[in-house]
Amino acid sequence: MPKPATRYKQSELTVMRTLTIEGQFKKTAVLIGEHLRNAGRYIPDGKTIVITDTNVQNHHREAFPAGDIISIGTGEDIKNLDTVKELYRKLVDLRADRATFIIGIGGGVVCDICGFVASTYMRGLRFAYIPTTLLAQVDASVGGKSGVNLGGYKNIVGVFNQPDFVLCDFNLLTTLGKAERLSGFAEIVKHAVIADEHLFEFLEQNFKKAIELDVAVIEKLIYESLVIKSTIVNTDEREKGERRKLNFGHTFGHAVEKVAGITHGEAIGVGMVVASALSVEKGFLTQAEHQRIKTLLGKIGLPTRMQVNIEFVLDALEKDKKRKGKNVNFVLLNSVGNAIVVEIYLNELKDSIRNWLIT
Ligand SMILES: NC(=O)c1ccc[n+]([C@@H]2O[C@H](COP(=O)([O-])OP(=O)(O)OC[C@H]3O[C@@H](n4cnc5c(N)ncnc54)[C@H](O)[C@@H]3O)[C@@H](O)[C@H]2O)c1
Ligand SMILES: [Zn+2]
Repeated sequence: MPKPATRYKQSELTVMRTLTIEGQFKKTAVLIGEHLRNAGRYIPDGKTIVITDTNVQNHHREAFPAGDIISIGTGEDIKNLDTVKELYRKLVDLRADRATFIIGIGGGVVCDICGFVASTYMRGLRFAYIPTTLLAQVDASVGGKSGVNLGGYKNIVGVFNQPDFVLCDFNLLTTLGKAERLSGFAEIVKHAVIADEHLFEFLEQNFKKAIELDVAVIEKLIYESLVIKSTIVNTDEREKGERRKLNFGHTFGHAVEKVAGITHGEAIGVGMVVASALSVEKGFLTQAEHQRIKTLLGKIGLPTRMQVNIEFVLDALEKDKKRKGKNVNFVLLNSVGNAIVVEIYLNELKDSIRNWLIT
């Protein structure tokens, strides 16, 4: 287990950087390197309600902005309409009105639920995210998607809507467990692999410092990752083309995640290896580049192979909500830093996957 990075004082903080994401209806300011305890500076005057989870509240309550706090449980299982209903009731009890500002402080689960509740309660209140996991800082908090699961289908009920701001405080990451950190790194590798070879090289050279949450390295990784995600989202908010590239490693990854009951990061690690192997098979990527990807994932501590029941995985692939009839939109690589979206016949995909998993 890597030693947690020491908490740094505000005066030692590298300069805060701001990114602007141009949503369809709103511009979102992403404050990278700002402190949770400074959140009050960005919140409009009036009533504020914080939505968080019990873990985050236990670790970081003292730095929360002033306001009422609603705490929900933890885990993917609570990302459902029951929790949404409970939150609507609590908002009514707290007399939340159109002028109330909502802040989600937590990982991707809190951000997704909070964005959905804030966007639908009284036809939409203003809101912000303070993501507290690495995955939420580099992925879930930007892009404007929020929603909940229903009957085994992930994120099937949801909205597109942008928060007013997203505040990423790296200090919050020091209390994360190893599995949560790895899930974040899997998404950072994904961003580098699909869009930025320099970032990939930086990861190859700095993976040890990254795992230890070295502030300068983490700051660069989060900033560059957000530039990649926001650039892609800015060009394709509603996922018609370019945005599909963000699913790299996820078609197969989601299938194994469901079947093997492993973490998202682990599943995406394996999913990226499978997608890159398929890219070699299709003649897009060199074997050497495929090996480079596997090596980096291994160094970071993510699995590159997995023992799973192949039939269950194929069944899960069949049920993928992004499937188009007999075809799936699969993200492949032309090279490290350059992804392409290719429509692949599901049966062909199944045959390839069978080969890799059996050999
Ligand atoms: N909306 C999007 O675009 C998008 C993108 C990617 C992922 N997601 C969603 O994000 C969710 C996963 O997010 P996640 O990985 O952050 O999981 P999570 O929110 O469940 O957090 C993981 C665990 O870490 C705890 N935790 C959070 N912050 C902590 C901290 N600072 N210190 C200690 N513990 C802390 C949580 O209580 C939880 O137990 C999934 O539901 C996924 O669908 C959404
Ligand atoms: Zn993911």
